[in-house]
Parts: sequence; structure tokens; C-alpha cells
Amino acid sequence: MATDERTTAYLRRFGEAEDEPLRAARARSEEADIPAVAPETGALLRFFARMTRARSVVEVGSGGGYSGLWLLGGMDPRGALTTIEIDPGNQALAQRAYAEGGKGTHVRCMLGPALSVLPKLADANYDIVFLDAVKAEYVDYLTHARRLLRPGGLLLADNALWSGRVADADVTDADTVGLRTFNDTVRDDPSLHATLLPVGDGVLAAVYDPSP
Ligand SMILES: C[S@@+](CC[C@H](N)C(=O)[O-])C[C@H]1O[C@@H](n2cnc3c(N)ncnc32)[C@H](O)[C@@H]1O
Repeated sequence: MATDERTTAYLRRFGEAEDEPLRAARARSEEADIPAVAPETGALLRFFARMTRARSVVEVGSGGGYSGLWLLGGMDPRGALTTIEIDPGNQALAQRAYAEGGKGTHVRCMLGPALSVLPKLADANYDIVFLDAVKAEYVDYLTHARRLLRPGGLLLADNALWSGRVADADVTDADTVGLRTFNDTVRDDPSLHATLLPVGDGVLAAVYDPSP
């Protein structure tokens, strides 16, 4: 956690409350041992989707559909979420969540390893790309995100602080090093204008502007 418990509780009370489909999706994710985004991260995803009037969003790592439902709630009602998941059981949970949230017809669920599915998606077509699958692969997802985002689109990534491990140079496991490298790569990329938000487990947000 990037904040103390009392502040986290306050942030959750302040933020948009979960409705029943979200609450159920979070409960099923917990039961299935799927690490869903924190509720305050979900509310932030919804804020970004609403702010950009997103019509076309890619999510890498559907999980049990919790983050996808938050995103869908902020997107343009004519919009569509393309969400990638490697585990058929998790994908089935996610599809149940989208259906319960009344959003089933606004989601394209793609099954497979993200690095095999991402090349199938169209260039410069997406308002938001949200990363939440294999942390050690974030840098590889980034290569695809640059191609997929329209100019002015938003890159979002969860776990950018990884419970404090990213900031601790003594932690050198593959996921932590992957996240550290990802954060540095985004920060140093002149086409990405980034900020790191201490919300939930840390959210990296960057605007894609490829103009010279
Ligand atoms: C952190 S969970 C996603 C949680 C979800 N975003 C949410 O907040 O509700 C990560 C998900 O990525 C999936 N995953 C793991 N490796 C993957 C891969 N190589 N390609 C696509 N999905 C993968 C896992 O099965 C898991 O469901």
C-alpha cells in the first residue's frame, strides 16, 4: 500500500462506490485467487475512461472482470472493451461479470497469451491501453501499446509500485525488475508523458504523443 490504512479507507469512502455487479466480481476474483485492482484503482480507471470519453479500450489481463467493469462504466456507451486473458476459467468469470453489469455486448474477450494476441489488434485504434498481466512482460506490452494507442491516448499500468518493492533496489526478482524497467522506459520515452500515482498498488499513467 502506498498510503496508510486510515487514508486508504478514507479514499475508498470518498471514491465512487461499487455497485452489486462490481462487488460480486471482486468477491469471485478473491475466491478464485485472482488479484484484482484495488477499488480506488478501479475508480481511477473509470475516471480516466470518462475523462477521455473512451470508445475503444484494450485491457491486458481480464482476471475476473473487476477492472474491466470499472472501465466499461466510464466509457462512451457505444464503446467496446477488448480484453485479453490466458486462463479460460478466469475468462469465464470475467464474461459473467460483464453480463451481470449489463455490458456483455460491449466486450471482445480474447483468449491467449497477451504477447500472441496483441499483434492481432489494429494500429492507432485505441483510446486507452491498460496493463495488468505478467509484470515481467510489461516492457514487451509497451512496444504494442505504442502501436495501438491513438495520438493523445492513455497508457495505464497497475502495480507500478508493487507494494514498495519497485523503490527498493535490493529487491531483484523478475517481476520487480520488470516493473522498474518498465517505469524507467516509459519515463525516458519522449513520446510518453508519464506520471506515477500512489493509488492502490501504484498506477503509471502516460499520455501518448508521438509528434516530434
Ligand atoms: C492481476 S490479474 C488481472 C486482474 C484484473 N485486471 C482485475 O483487476 O480484475 C492478471 C491476469 O492476467 C492473466 N495472465 C497471466 N499471464 C497472462 C498472459 N501471458 N497473457 C494474458 N493474460 C495473462 C492471469 O490469468 C490473470 O487473470
